[in-house]
Amino acid sequence: MEKNYKRHLITAALPYANGAVHIGHLAGVYVPADIYARYLRMRGEDVRFICGSDEHGVPITIKAKQQGITPQEVVDKYHDIIKKSFDGLGISFDIYSRTSSKIHHKTAAEFFKKLHDEGKFIEKESEQFYDEEAGQFLADRYIVGTCPKCGAENAYGDQCEKCGSTLSPTELINPRSALSGNPPVMKSTKHWYLPLDKYEPWLKEWILDGHKEWKSNVYGQCKSWLDGGLQPRAVSRDLDWGVPVPVEGGEGKVLYVWFDAPIGYISNTIELMPDEWEKWWKSEDTKMVHFIGKDNIVFHCIVFPSMLKAYGDGYILPENVPANEFLNLEGNKISTSRNWAVWLHEYLEEFPGKEDVLRYVLCANAPETKDNDFTWKDFQTRNNSELVAIFGNFVNRAVVLTHKYFGGEVPATMSITPYDEEVLAEIPVIRKNIEDSLENFKFREALKEAMNLARLGNKYLADTEPWKVAKTDMERVATILNISLQICANLTIAFEPFMPHSTKKLSQILNMKTRNWEDFGSDSILVPGHKLNEATLLFDKIEDDAIAAQIAKLEATKTANEQLAESTKPAPAVTPQKEECTFDDFMKMDIRTATVLEAERVPKTDKLLKLTIDTGIDVRTIVSGIAEYYTPEVMIGKKICILANLAPRKIKGIESKGMILMAKEENGNMRIVTPEEPLSNGSMVG
Ligand code: MF3
Ligand code: ZN
Repeated sequence: MEKNYKRHLITAALPYANGAVHIGHLAGVYVPADIYARYLRMRGEDVRFICGSDEHGVPITIKAKQQGITPQEVVDKYHDIIKKSFDGLGISFDIYSRTSSKIHHKTAAEFFKKLHDEGKFIEKESEQFYDEEAGQFLADRYIVGTCPKCGAENAYGDQCEKCGSTLSPTELINPRSALSGNPPVMKSTKHWYLPLDKYEPWLKEWILDGHKEWKSNVYGQCKSWLDGGLQPRAVSRDLDWGVPVPVEGGEGKVLYVWFDAPIGYISNTIELMPDEWEKWWKSEDTKMVHFIGKDNIVFHCIVFPSMLKAYGDGYILPENVPANEFLNLEGNKISTSRNWAVWLHEYLEEFPGKEDVLRYVLCANAPETKDNDFTWKDFQTRNNSELVAIFGNFVNRAVVLTHKYFGGEVPATMSITPYDEEVLAEIPVIRKNIEDSLENFKFREALKEAMNLARLGNKYLADTEPWKVAKTDMERVATILNISLQICANLTIAFEPFMPHSTKKLSQILNMKTRNWEDFGSDSILVPGHKLNEATLLFDKIEDDAIAAQIAKLEATKTANEQLAESTKPAPAVTPQKEECTFDDFMKMDIRTATVLEAERVPKTDKLLKLTIDTGIDVRTIVSGIAEYYTPEVMIGKKICILANLAPRKIKGIESKGMILMAKEENGNMRIVTPEEPLSNGSMVG
């Protein structure tokens, strides 16, 4: 590590409490953050891993409205689900709190007030979108419209989910209210703005010159923001859910959720360590790292640092912000609203005891440099051919053979061959590779290296074949098993950050009381004579039917979404209304009910039928262009409506007196208008 830090403050993006946590969140943020935190703890570092629910903002109030409950009920429900499920997966937060807490409201309000009192904000009246029917300003997600960048139809006022662009409401094409669907009106309102433009030179120096080591996706996004020029950003909203604006003129307004949420990292640290928190946030000896998804980059690299800089008072800045790209599911973008996701709380119920399988697959597949895809097939393959066939198989054989030949006691090494030496020499190399990768936020690479240690052990046993050697040379078997068990002991350390449930189980099998990272690489972690416990399986096979059930579940979601899309499809556009007509114009038309007596095709035409009609006044002939839509047989006996006093016309030599009323659908299809009531011929319509 470049500098000697005394402590590590690790934050993971506060998930919105408007839904449960899914594999996209996990692979992008929480699994890598947890691996990092566990690794540093293993190394004996002083670590605090901070998270909590983000309980303000429009996503919450929209959810409340959809479900017909209060915002508080929404956040209570999801906070609970999220907290429990993180715990179930073994995400080792030191605190998981929430932004609706008292401490947070106080901390965020004080933060705002100090910046306000010191004149760090601009106050500005501006015209903003307002929904007259709902009586509400339309902040952020309350306004939807067409994305000016990619043309997607349901972009939000703050962001387009399709192309990921950050937007402001006025950029939307055809904006409409998410509450009423109405086009909004403009109304004047006052807000406080953080003048980001003032911090631009400082940000350029800090990031563009000072943090060239940041991941290229993060650095690149910062660069494009900074090159594009920063604008003042509103830090308050006209909403009633959130932290109330604590200054004069703030009635009916709350802090913008992206202003209050990152302060949640501070509030939660205060809650965790009321007496010590300042040393974690205000000392250059602290290394702070924010784990986030790519849609959070601007807030964590530009907005929040500017807030901390504006506040001053010794607040430190993040040393790194290792944001990941997105994880897709079976080829499609994960979506909470379309329920296209694997939900953590459901996974934990459906795959009990397989927490580490998910951790393994999500890390092995993490979208570190580009978007990636999660498939259930890949999940099964990684479990069956990597965890079971390599890691589990190796450990099991080593322990079972030790029980078989040595009564479960670690045998002493007799004489070491050059091959043994080669294998043992690999272990510290692997350790170094894992360390380098983890310290550079390359979690996939690190996990691959850890897996190489299991591969090494598996290959060692396959090459040395102690079960055959046992017939002739028990001394050699002792050496082989000693070395194999040392590799197992190293595995309990190597995998601890990645798969803590499995390493716990393995260390119980090996009867290891303690595990230290400093022992990693050693060929004598287990002393001869050390007693092992019985072997139990570390991993078991995932059968096809379990995978088929998950795929069927997704298929059902797909079908439900398609049906929903079909039923909510907007009605096809109708032809605009014609020019106005007067009552007298209308009264001139003689529209009546009538019955078709006879019908035949007009020879040499495709479209015309010659109809004999009983109009109640007379029996007459009407030629009508409906042959494309009705056969003569079908028409006979039909009750219809006619315009009786249309001036007679000759069509194909036949005199036609009147017109049959028909309706034309938008797709061009024509249908006759038939009175539903049994009206007698000649009844006037009008
Ligand atoms: N709730 C936000 C999201 O899910 C993340 C907030 S991170 C914080 O995208 F820093 F603001 F807390
Ligand atoms: Zn877009």
